Amino acid sequence: MKTTILSIETSCDETAVAVLECNGGIKSPTFQLKGNALYSQAEKHAEFGGVYPSLAKREHSQNLIPLLSKALKEAGLETKGSTTYNIDEISGILEREEALLKALNTYIPSISRPDIDAIAVTVGPGLEPALWVGINFARALSTIWDIPRVAVNHLEGHMVSVLAEERNSLQFPALGFVVSGGHTELVCIEKWFEYETIGRTRDDAVGEAFDKVARMLDLPYPGGPEISKWAQEARENSIDSPIELPRPMITSNDHDFSFSGLKTAVLYALRDNEFSHEEKKGIAREFEEAVTDVITKKISGAVEEYNPKSVIAAGGVMANTYIRTRLEETLASHNIPLLLPPQKLATDNAVMIGMAGYLRYTSKEYITTDFSARGTWSL
Ligand code: KG4
Ligand code: ZN
Repeated sequence: MKTTILSIETSCDETAVAVLECNGGIKSPTFQLKGNALYSQAEKHAEFGGVYPSLAKREHSQNLIPLLSKALKEAGLETKGSTTYNIDEISGILEREEALLKALNTYIPSISRPDIDAIAVTVGPGLEPALWVGINFARALSTIWDIPRVAVNHLEGHMVSVLAEERNSLQFPALGFVVSGGHTELVCIEKWFEYETIGRTRDDAVGEAFDKVARMLDLPYPGGPEISKWAQEARENSIDSPIELPRPMITSNDHDFSFSGLKTAVLYALRDNEFSHEEKKGIAREFEEAVTDVITKKISGAVEEYNPKSVIAAGGVMANTYIRTRLEETLASHNIPLLLPPQKLATDNAVMIGMAGYLRYTSKEYITTDFSARGTWSL
């Protein structure tokens, strides 16, 4: 049975809305992307060197209606018409999102109720002020159109994003690796919705380390893609690093990570030496390789201990071509399928939230009562 999901993502500095047509149920889900609208605020946060929560909240509030309209239009679901609703009730829901309420009261009455089965929204983890905008928006739309809503865990969204392309090689039990700006976690996945965290970072997340080291090298936020560009150039031009960086916890007997020492090593090296532009590219390369050595070693260790039938690696950092390639080599040597998101779906987006929302909705595993932001919600 065809299910159409409208999805909303506002956990950090990307505002995103998508429309997906989903089939196949939890056992063999398939997804067709019907509408996709994403606005990255990264440039606006760049001058602060990282995400500034109140700016993120304001931007989400201003961008959601234009993005909703774009996604619905693309999906052929925006039809002129009329919708009536209790304005006081919606004003109550959106009392803290003034700009959004105003835009909604202009847009929604002029279109017909779209043919959508469920509204999926990220409720955590993430920045709470940012999460609330998406949550209240979903509550308002679901009230106006009388459509059920599904609470989605952002990390589950990242993992489910791998089903966009390679779903045939997914086999349970699987090992999941989520690497983003806020998370670095290894989880055993018995099946969808059943997770056991076996390792995580004790300090900085991998993406966070990329962002901080980029800043030290005077590269703009977000730093991951910038470091990766420099590292690639260094590799192509055989530029070596003038320094050797540590591989923290690479031989530890657990599945935890630590990246703050690596970051600090870069900081001290830059403080104590003058490096040329070329040498800095070499450092970016050494940093990327150090991170990748640790990641591949840790995943190998977890594979040997838990014997998963497949491995999922997802999250913003998995947009990194070098890390993808090295992980592919590692898992090939273990003879286990590796599932990665398409590069475009590695960083935050609403498509993955719609995909995870469908798995929850089709299994009736959704929460309709507690729709509060859960900043630190774990898997
Ligand atoms: O998943 P995501 O978009 O947002 C969070 O949920 O945090 O991940 C963003 C993180 C940032 O730290 C960014 O620097 C990093 O992913 N990132 C990368 C690359 N592209 C994005 N890190 C390394 N290499 C990349 N190509
Ligand atoms: Zn993310």
